[in-house]
Amino acid sequence: MIKKFEKIRSVNGELKLLGDKSLSHRSIMFAAMADGESVIRNCSDSEDVSSTMNCFEKLGCRFEKNNDAIKVTGRGFKGFIKADTELYAGNSGTTARLISGVLAAQNFKSVITGDESLSNRPMMRIVEPLKFMGADISVNESGKMPITINPSLSLKPVEYRLKVASAQVKSAMLLCALHMEDESIIIEPEATRNHTEKLLGLKTEKTESVTRIYVSKKNYPEPFEITVPSDISSASFFIVLAALSVNSDITIRSVSLNETRTGALTVLKNMGARIEIGNLHLEKGEETGDLRIFSSKLKNVEIPHSIIPNIIDEIPILSVAGVFADGNFKITGAKELRVKESDRINSLVVNFKAAGLSVKEFEDGFELSGSPANIHTTFESFGDHRIAMAFSVMSMLLECGGSVKNFESVAVSNPGFYNQVLALSNF
Ligand code: S3P
Repeated sequence: MIKKFEKIRSVNGELKLLGDKSLSHRSIMFAAMADGESVIRNCSDSEDVSSTMNCFEKLGCRFEKNNDAIKVTGRGFKGFIKADTELYAGNSGTTARLISGVLAAQNFKSVITGDESLSNRPMMRIVEPLKFMGADISVNESGKMPITINPSLSLKPVEYRLKVASAQVKSAMLLCALHMEDESIIIEPEATRNHTEKLLGLKTEKTESVTRIYVSKKNYPEPFEITVPSDISSASFFIVLAALSVNSDITIRSVSLNETRTGALTVLKNMGARIEIGNLHLEKGEETGDLRIFSSKLKNVEIPHSIIPNIIDEIPILSVAGVFADGNFKITGAKELRVKESDRINSLVVNFKAAGLSVKEFEDGFELSGSPANIHTTFESFGDHRIAMAFSVMSMLLECGGSVKNFESVAVSNPGFYNQVLALSNF
């Protein structure tokens, strides 16, 4: 579906978003692993989180939806049952990679598959460390799906230094280590999102150069209740839209403000965005608060490499902000973008060129200069939800508007995106 957007005049009002996708995946998984009933409120309604629920349903869990709450009946320690088909993770890297850590410790064989995009993403990054823990896990000769996991009698606790700055790889190892009596230590040189650690209450030690995370069976999840804070990555599209539209003022309630996720707020504030944070509180150890964003005048700033893992999902929308800010937008040190739902460096470069900008592409980033042309541009989403939403926002900021192909991919993280736009915007 091609979605056409006119230039908007302003955005105003209050936005309530559903739960953060990373936190929702983990809440569903930990509830599924626990022995008994858990309750998850404000869970993400994204296709990705549905993929996680579908997989755990096949492994014997029950999910009952009741208004805003999902009651999960979990299976307890090593209590999952063998799925009668392959486990389909759809578009979701988090589902495929995290569930691999859980399945590596079960007493039955599992096969995990995904859609075309996921089937082209690298899986050796989890296979190698899980094998190091003694797991019997394999992928095809190109290091891609399907992932085949057989029961292993030789799982052993490890001390392991992560080779990729990836919360999915870290979490796969932590989830596998939860099934062992003795303690494993996972060493993280570059900080990535720490929701797994926080929700499971894992002991962590931070030195100047690394974080050490301690995990064993004593951290195995028990039934719990949670109201999932709203998704800061979904919020970032509206934050940029409001900051770059005149006469705008929006409030987004109960947003996840975990320090490993707020890098985009830091970058936007450094660029001059007027963002106020209020009503700070904790939800199961996760920082949560309200955001208020006003029309702002932005200028481009240097984006340090150390912040890249923190802003990895927000780079598409930050680069759109950069188009309308003074000076040139430049990002480097972001090679991981090449292995996301699409090759996001290529997806961004193609679309910015289509809009008439001058673009220098690097292996690990790109630089933008010039101004968008005065034409209605049709953007490619490459079937990638964050590219679709970033160029929807760009379209609403362009004089002649713009259109986005395969717009429906937004449902991978935020099926309500278009209705939320309509509710806030004055066209
Ligand atoms: C996620 C980790 C990140 C992120 C993804 C969600 C998670 O991926 O890009 O959207 O929930 O753990 P990587 O671990 O590949 O960096």
